[in-house]
Amino acid sequence: MPRGELLLVSGSLRRGSHNTALLREAANALPSGVTHEWLTGIEALPVYSEDDDGERPPAAVERLREMIAAAGAVLIATPEYNGSVPGGLKNAVDWASRPFPDNALRDKPVAVIGASTGIFGAIWAQADLRKSLRTAGARVLDADLSVGGAQAAFLPSGGLRDPALASRLRDLVTALVGAGLTRCRG
Ligand code: FNR
Repeated sequence: MPRGELLLVSGSLRRGSHNTALLREAANALPSGVTHEWLTGIEALPVYSEDDDGERPPAAVERLREMIAAAGAVLIATPEYNGSVPGGLKNAVDWASRPFPDNALRDKPVAVIGASTGIFGAIWAQADLRKSLRTAGARVLDADLSVGGAQAAFLPSGGLRDPALASRLRDLVTALVGAGLTRCRG
């Protein structure tokens, strides 16, 4: 992806997060020559208010928007909290979605994956997040990856225990990088 790199976004702030572990595996699956960067600091974003979203938004918001704008593509791994997207991650999407329609997410290739300790692997959170991202104008890939029973899904080395899941993650990353490249050339 000539324009920026793959931006990795974990919806979990937890040390030892399964979603962050999943993104580390995604980074390991990147084709050679494609770099990645982590979006940090979503916990520093204020809760969204239109009153704070004027000509000079908070510095953490400007940084968020700049990092997304500079990325060729974005990969988000979300946990599921009470059947939906964790509030901190949704708040980041809300900030990134403005000003609408010419926001940092507009036409940005984005893929959503997720891990949870429940059996379904955060499928509701993923679906809700895709809906929000599409509403914001992102080009969201249909591909998904759900890691259920996440507390047992990773090897001590960090890799995914299930080779089929590991293979699907590689395919998804390849598709996302391809979408970023297509967009850059288009
Ligand atoms: C959860 N968890 C959870 N799991 C799930 O499959 N469906 C759910 O609705 C919820 N709800 C929920 C709410 C809250 C407030 C917490 C703290 C947790 C469990 C969740 O999947 C588990 O904590 C994951 O390990 C979170 O992801 P990370 O932090 O490991 O990336």
